[in-house]
Amino acid sequence: MSVPAEWRPEDDLAEVLVTEAALTRRVAELGRQISSDYQGMELLLVGVLKGAVMFLVDLARQIRRPVELDFMAISSYGASTQSSGIVRILKDLDESVEGRHVLIVEDIVDSGLTLAYILRTLRARQPASLKVCGLLVKDGARGEEAPVDYVGFEIPNRFVVGYGLDYAEAYRNLPYVAVLKPELYRDPD
Ligand code: IMP
Ligand code: MG
Repeated sequence: MSVPAEWRPEDDLAEVLVTEAALTRRVAELGRQISSDYQGMELLLVGVLKGAVMFLVDLARQIRRPVELDFMAISSYGASTQSSGIVRILKDLDESVEGRHVLIVEDIVDSGLTLAYILRTLRARQPASLKVCGLLVKDGARGEEAPVDYVGFEIPNRFVVGYGLDYAEAYRNLPYVAVLKPELYRDPD
């Protein structure tokens, strides 16, 4: 497939919701808070592939505690913009979480289905503690089922891309979070 010589993702975006500067500032704040909450502990950051990757690597560098990284991949959306409710592990963690202080790092919590599933799965493996850090939480996310201990930003219930978040695998490398023009996708009925 050919790509125009000049890539202009701005043409596909309705609005920037979180600027690069705001992301940098908030990630540093979260890092400071996590560093202080986990004093004397070693942390295992569990990144949820692929959306959380940008956030996880930036956050990890702002945590002044010993940190190990592990990753899992979950399928929930496919190429659509609506949660299917069907969640499945595509890649499991490499290491055991038993007795570890686990912090799940997620890009975005929408329905909360994905997170609820991950929490159930990891809780059963008996970590010493299990918390969640979500960069974005959408309005209307169901907090009872999927509590988020550290929230980066609460955002309106719109479909966003950038800073790891994709639409059909595109836009992950934008350094900010933006609303995709709705005419570029169509929700399934
Ligand atoms: P949930 O299960 O509905 O909470 O959806 C969580 C997952 O869906 C996230 O980890 C994302 O991968 C994806 N997702 C939800 N909302 C958006 C969005 O606005 N843009 C891109 N991906 C999203
Ligand atoms: Mg995700």
